[in-house]
Amino acid sequence: MTRLTSTGWMAVIAGLLLAGSAATARLDGAPPPAAKAAAPAKRAAATGSSTQCIACHARNSPALVSQWRDSAHAVEGVGCLECHRAEVGEVDGFMHQGERIATVVTPKDCAACHESITAEFDASHHSKASSFIGSLDNVLGEVIEGPIIAANGCWQCHGSTVQFLTDANGRVRRDKEGKPILDPMTWPNTGIGRVNLDGSRGACSACHSRHSFKASMARQPEVCGKCHMGPDHPQIEIFEESKHGIAYRTRINEMNLESKSWVLGKDYTAAPTCATCHMSATPNQPLTHDVGARISWTLRPVISRKLENWETRRASMQDTCHQCHGPDFVGAFYKSFDSAVEIYNSKFAEPAKRIMDTLRARNRLTPTPFDEELEWTFYRLWHHEGRRARMGVSMQGPDYTQWHGFFEVAENFYFRFLPQAQEAGHGDAEVEKVVKAILDSPEHAWKKGMSPEDRARIDAFYKQRYGTDAQ
Ligand code: HEC
Ligand code: HEC
Ligand code: HEC
Ligand code: HEC
Ligand code: HEC
Ligand code: HEC
Ligand code: HEC
Ligand code: HEC
Repeated sequence: MTRLTSTGWMAVIAGLLLAGSAATARLDGAPPPAAKAAAPAKRAAATGSSTQCIACHARNSPALVSQWRDSAHAVEGVGCLECHRAEVGEVDGFMHQGERIATVVTPKDCAACHESITAEFDASHHSKASSFIGSLDNVLGEVIEGPIIAANGCWQCHGSTVQFLTDANGRVRRDKEGKPILDPMTWPNTGIGRVNLDGSRGACSACHSRHSFKASMARQPEVCGKCHMGPDHPQIEIFEESKHGIAYRTRINEMNLESKSWVLGKDYTAAPTCATCHMSATPNQPLTHDVGARISWTLRPVISRKLENWETRRASMQDTCHQCHGPDFVGAFYKSFDSAVEIYNSKFAEPAKRIMDTLRARNRLTPTPFDEELEWTFYRLWHHEGRRARMGVSMQGPDYTQWHGFFEVAENFYFRFLPQAQEAGHGDAEVEKVVKAILDSPEHAWKKGMSPEDRARIDAFYKQRYGTDAQ
């Protein structure tokens, strides 16, 4: 890793100005980079120069260079080579215009200057997101749908395992200049848990788009929404529906997004974004790149459970809420959030799982996943509908909680899951006993019938509102 002196950089920039390239006003008038409090962990002596890279790429890929020029990196003297230089022996290194470089820049490269951030990211679930080989989702993507779908779908969010194309003898294929050719199935890719050729995991550019690498961009919810969306984890949709999302959208001009310091309650107050609650600093805690540090439940599996040290994690999240809300308000929210997760667990997820386990133990289902309709029904119940319901509550999206959530959970449970399970277990006393015990429990007693008085109340409601009966 190298670093130019500031005078070296002023020369580069001046050279570019003379060469007539469109310099931004900011660089033009930027003060010489001063020694900063938040200095990067390591600043190596100057051993090379990006001058030629910049001059030539300003012709070949001008937008790339102007993005870089508009970045904190350019101001701080972090040039092309500081990120792209490869040491002799790095598998993806190749000679390019007199310098050994690599195309793929990994968290290991960023770590030279951003060590603690990279360590936090590495400790998070994000960096491990491509380890999903054993999952049912993987069977769906890789086998039932097809490997090319996994490459274009799953891996774009979770990350690929970057690989080279090889010849018949297993040797890495190279182009005529000696550059090793990356397997197009595996790169380009900025999936969050990408497995890199140097063994590191992740892609910082999943959130920090190159070559501007702006913190302001990552502070905005759209960045997370590339992956945190859709039927099985609609966090961006939930956020947009919530009061927080509305406040963000309508008051974006007050968010102070371009500020260097971005401490909640100090630098901005208008609204929280995903980053605010899950990552950013408050007056009491620093920024973290471990996005799991503040969540107390996992809302992903069939049955939700609290995480290890959940009290500490919850306290960190509540510290963000407390910058804008009182403790009683926040406490009351968490009580109703917990209760909703618990009712999902006890009323729907645990019973459904008990039935699935019994059917499997009684050999009423094959060991092959997804070859029976009931398995698709059960998967939808917890992986799509059940997640939407739980996640909707966790981030104040009432429509995701109710109509896209618990409504669908209930409809599925009573009218697809149970009938299909009863059919699969038909004639098996053990299965029938388990199903009966579930239906006999008080939370499912409504199915045994409503009193004539309650029914009359419903009819009266519709008569009075619309002049007709309910159906
Ligand atoms: C004389 C012009 C020129 C100079 C100097 C130059 N490049 Fe390039 N570079 C190119 C062109 C043209 C391409 C695209 C074609 C190719 O891949 O060779 C390219 C491609 C690249 C790529 C992408 C390779 C890939 O796998 O797609 C990277 C990364 C890169 N350059 C970085 C650098 C760095 C870092 C420097 C400074 C050491 C540099 N370039 C100097 C012209 C130049
Ligand atoms: C802060 C680190 C950093 C700096 C500085 C940097 N790059 Fe990059 N560059 C990256 C990352 C990250 C990627 C994405 C590659 C990947 O990991 O998939 C990339 C990709 C590229 C690519 C190939 C991808 C594409 O979109 O074609 C080229 C070409 C490139 N950089 C050229 C340059 C040049 C020229 C400079 C100097 C003006 C430069 N880079 C400065 C980090 C950097
Ligand atoms: C040679 C050192 C060096 C390398 C390598 C480096 N950076 Fe930086 N980076 C800096 C410096 C210096 C700053 C400006 C001071 C600060 O914010 O810490 C900075 C700032 C940033 C910022 C904040 C920008 C803003 O808008 O405030 C981000 C994000 C960032 N770097 C990401 C990366 C990523 C991702 C990589 C790897 C692809 C990387 N950096 C590689 C030195 C480096
Ligand atoms: C749109 C981006 C996206 C796509 C496409 C995608 N996922 Fe995910 N996946 C995510 C996100 C985001 C999460 C985490 C959700 C959460 O925490 O609420 C996740 C969660 C998971 C989990 C649970 C991990 C855990 O620790 O509990 C598995 C397994 C998984 N995905 C596998 C896959 C597979 C296999 C595919 C392709 C068939 C796929 N995903 C497609 C974004 C995606
Ligand atoms: C999940 C998205 C995400 C990923 C992945 C990510 N970052 Fe960040 N990063 C952010 C957000 C959001 C901020 C701004 C937070 C703030 O200012 O409150 C940020 C800020 C930064 C900053 C500026 C810190 C400061 O004190 O101003 C640096 C440097 C940085 N990231 C480096 C990295 C590096 C290196 C990686 C890869 C190891 C990485 N980031 C991966 C979301 C991400
Ligand atoms: C107002 C604060 C707040 C905002 C804004 C927010 N979240 Fe959350 N998020 C939470 C809380 C609270 C939880 C539940 C924490 C717990 O389990 O204790 C949560 C849970 C999550 C989870 C964990 C789901 C799981 O599988 O267990 C993910 C992923 C997530 N949020 C992503 C996002 C994304 C992406 C955004 C923006 C689109 C966002 N959040 C916006 C507060 C917030
Ligand atoms: C490129 C895709 C991608 C982007 C962008 C992304 N995430 Fe994630 N996120 C994932 C995947 C995939 C997982 C599940 C990882 C696993 O458990 O295997 C995940 C998991 C999480 C979790 C749960 C962590 C845990 O410990 O269980 C939170 C919270 C989260 N992301 C928040 C965010 C926030 C906030 C942002 C934006 C600042 C963001 N993510 C950006 C893909 C992404
Ligand atoms: C940056 C300030 C900010 C932060 C941080 C914040 N909120 Fe809010 N919250 C708001 C605003 C603004 C509203 C809308 C108030 C209104 O409409 O009068 C709101 C509304 C709410 C509501 C009412 C939702 C509704 O639809 O009426 C709940 C519940 C809530 N927040 C919980 C939380 C929780 C829990 C956290 C922490 C995980 C949190 N908030 C963090 C600003 C914030």
